[in-house]
Amino acid sequence: MRRAVYPGTFDPITNGHLDILRHVVGLFDEIIVGVLHNPAKHPLFTVDERVAFARAATQAYANVSVASFSGLLVDFCRVSDVAYIVRGVRSSADLQVELQMAQMNESLYSEVHTLFVPASPKWSFVSSSLVKDVASHGGLVRAFVPDVVNEALVRRFGQNGANAKG
Ligand code: PNS
Repeated sequence: MRRAVYPGTFDPITNGHLDILRHVVGLFDEIIVGVLHNPAKHPLFTVDERVAFARAATQAYANVSVASFSGLLVDFCRVSDVAYIVRGVRSSADLQVELQMAQMNESLYSEVHTLFVPASPKWSFVSSSLVKDVASHGGLVRAFVPDVVNEALVRRFGQNGANAKG
C-alpha cells in the first residue's frame, strides 16, 4: 500500500495546500494530512480547529485522512507506516528550506523520502501567514481559503476592510 503524509502547521489550511493535495491524491492509496501540534508556535487556531478545517476541506477525497501529530515528523512517519512526505514548494526560497528538511528527515529515517510538488502559479503567493494578516485587518480572503476557514476568520476578525464588499 502506497501511503504518504502531507505535514504542516495548517494554521489555517489554504487553497494552496488543497491544490498540492489535489496534485498527489491519485499517486497514493492513502494520504494522511498531518497537522503539527506545537503550542510553542502560538498558532491562531487550536490543533482541533485546524484538524476540523482540514477534514471539512478534504472530505471529497476518500483516500485522505487527517490526524494531528507532535514531536518529530519522522516518528509520525514511522508509526503511521508511510514512506513518503509530500511538501509544496512555492519559490526558490521555499526549496532551500524544504531541501534541508528533506535531507534531515531522510538522515533521521532512511525509509522516508520527500516528494516536492511545485505550487500552481495561481496559488504560489498564498500562505497561511499572509491570509491571517489580511484577515486580521478585516480584508477579504475568501478567494484563498476553503469556506470553512473563511467563516472562522470572519468570525474571529470581522470583515471591515476596504475590500470587504468585493
Ligand atoms: O506548514 P509548515 O509550518 O511549513 O510545516 C513545517 C513542518 C510541520 C513540516 C515541520 O516544522 C516539521 O516537520 N515539524 C515537526 C518537527 C520536526 O520533525 N522537525 C525536524 C524537521 S527536519
